[in-house]
Amino acid sequence: MKTLRVSLPAGAPGYPIRIGQGIMDAELRVLAEPWARELVVVVTNETLDRLFPSHIPEALKGLPARIESCVIPDGERYKTLETLSRIYDRMMALGANRQTLLIAFGGGVVGDVAGFAAGTFMRGIRMLQVPTTLVAQVDSSIGGKTAVNHPLAKNAIGVFKQPEGVVIDLRFLETLPQRELRAGLFELIKHGIIADRELFAFLEKQVHRLVRPDWANDGAFWEEALTRSVAVKCRIVESDETESGPRAALNFGHTLGHLIETLTHYESYLHGEAVGVGMLFAAYLSRAWGHLPESDFGRLRALLEPLVAPVRLPALDEAAFTELLLHDKKSAQRSVRYVLLRGLGEVFIRERTEPGEIWPVFRQFVREHATICQVQAA
Ligand SMILES: NC(=O)c1ccc[n+]([C@@H]2O[C@H](COP(=O)([O-])OP(=O)(O)OC[C@H]3O[C@@H](n4cnc5c(N)ncnc54)[C@H](O)[C@@H]3O)[C@@H](O)[C@H]2O)c1
Ligand SMILES: [Zn+2]
Repeated sequence: MKTLRVSLPAGAPGYPIRIGQGIMDAELRVLAEPWARELVVVVTNETLDRLFPSHIPEALKGLPARIESCVIPDGERYKTLETLSRIYDRMMALGANRQTLLIAFGGGVVGDVAGFAAGTFMRGIRMLQVPTTLVAQVDSSIGGKTAVNHPLAKNAIGVFKQPEGVVIDLRFLETLPQRELRAGLFELIKHGIIADRELFAFLEKQVHRLVRPDWANDGAFWEEALTRSVAVKCRIVESDETESGPRAALNFGHTLGHLIETLTHYESYLHGEAVGVGMLFAAYLSRAWGHLPESDFGRLRALLEPLVAPVRLPALDEAAFTELLLHDKKSAQRSVRYVLLRGLGEVFIRERTEPGEIWPVFRQFVREHATICQVQAA
């Protein structure tokens, strides 16, 4: 087992992150013990409740608190104010108060909505995160961002809420659908690309273990890969808790990724899949503009290309591309901050990048990588 610690500024206590295979029972118990006095509410979804029934109550057996659950429906479309409201209803019905401990047990959707509930119920109660998808383990459970969606915009309503601790157990990845695992790999690899060249090299050498893990034998590799990837996220979050500066590096691959998600109405591709194509394009752009050496581009491409899920986009002209990149048509700002690479492990932000500069490179990318990113003819 590995332990990382997130330190927060201004006297706020930091919190531990435990990473390992089969560690949940023992570690959750240790982290919950100081807070599990009267009531613990486990927020989870229907899928996890079916796969791992009473897993958490078993782990916490013997602690003085009563353990109750709050099960929400499965899916991004339930990441809403309505679901949040149902969580408050359940907490009220259970007699929750400021001493109640909340445990978020699930993927990024559960983590985001349960985190929001913990950040706002009675002005904030203590919370532990037990992430069960790869996306949640390397990304959403760390950093304290929580949110629900507004019908007009994803993640539009939220608060910053840090947990008391995070338990990352590889064992949960064993039941994760292959497509979800694959999509999560891009966020894991992203941390190597933006800030840790050695992590990139480590992953590049053992890519077969990423794609089709043999859980009985690959535990040590995954523990190391997750720990290093999570360490990057922790470092960036620590340097910029509320997202004013360096945290923007985490958006590597996300500019085109968001465009792909919006253009396909969030229905065709998982977030990680869209970001995978976006990462390849951001590297392509970095090379085209003379920032990224050919050799580093070649390595990045060799690692990502076999993992990428090809996307097919509806017809797209420069005007539509521009509006999508700028998100908000009314926005006075006619440029974006593009996250680019100088090398593996070294990002920078190119301020005031205009869609008109990106468009010809995007067209070239689509021509050269038709198997990865196809755009329908108008
Ligand atoms: N807060 C942040 O910083 C942050 C960062 C990245 C993503 N997010 C958010 O996270 C969400 C995406 O998270 P996600 O990719 O984990 O999706 P998800 O939570 O929808 O989980 C994906 C699917 O896997 C199932 N699942 C979860 N754990 C499982 C397991 N162990 N075995 C089998 N099935 C399992 C879920 O029920 C769901 O059907 C998005 O809403 C995104 O906005 C937040
Ligand atoms: Zn992302």
